Amino acid sequence: MGYWLKRLGYLVKSGGFGKAVKEHKHSKSIENPAKILPVISINDLTDNSEPEMDEVVHADGNVSEEELKCIAKIVKFHQPKTIFEIGTFDGRTTLNMALNAKEAKIYTLDLPQDEIHSTSFRIKKADHSFIKKDFSGSRFIDRPEKERITQIYADSAKYNYDELAGQVDFVFIDGAHTYEYVLSDTANARKLLRNGKGVLLWHDYGWREVIQALNEYYQNDPDYAEIKNIEGTSLAYLHLK
Ligand SMILES: C[S@@+](CC[C@H](N)C(=O)[O-])C[C@H]1O[C@@H](n2cnc3c(N)ncnc32)[C@H](O)[C@@H]1O
Repeated sequence: MGYWLKRLGYLVKSGGFGKAVKEHKHSKSIENPAKILPVISINDLTDNSEPEMDEVVHADGNVSEEELKCIAKIVKFHQPKTIFEIGTFDGRTTLNMALNAKEAKIYTLDLPQDEIHSTSFRIKKADHSFIKKDFSGSRFIDRPEKERITQIYADSAKYNYDELAGQVDFVFIDGAHTYEYVLSDTANARKLLRNGKGVLLWHDYGWREVIQALNEYYQNDPDYAEIKNIEGTSLAYLHLK
């Protein structure tokens, strides 16, 4: 209560009260679009065998434990030779993908925190705390799996994907969550796929702009006709064959 009184006092004094109310009403009035992707059980996408998992304890910014298990099961089932991840964060998803594809080479890309204000597209405020960290990949840094993991520091919209184009079998997209970034990351992920084939997995089909982007793909582009939302998760899955 003390905080709110202080904040109210500041806003009235600074003349920002009207603006704050307007902004709040505006943000409330923008509702999430409906989630229209067909829902599928993880059992229908994999043989459901138990994956190997480690560093399971959840930190703010990580995928949920259930989602981590789904990602691990999918990787275990497909055994991709090369994996590319957009959005390393603390490396919990990177490590668990590495544990379930023992032969795979993994590339994981993260935004250097000093580029937070010079990105190609808008970044959501909610993403700032996940970008601002001393280093990326703390969960795998001391692990033997690190030998198979290459860290890339770049804005996902600026990185030159040409070097790895056509060499990747599995892309996990969990970087910036604005509409423009979902479109850009998805287009780049498609360039990476070997002969255009492989698995694309997006996180956060539950954030407004991610829903909007993936719904549009599903509705307007036949390439995305088979995209699915994995039951009980915010993961969206597409196997391009
Ligand atoms: C929600 S976290 C990823 C969480 C991770 N998948 C996990 O479960 O541990 C999002 C990550 O994307 C990164 N990121 C945000 N904007 C980016 C951009 N434009 N380019 C590359 N990485 C970006 C952030 O630095 C952050 O590490």
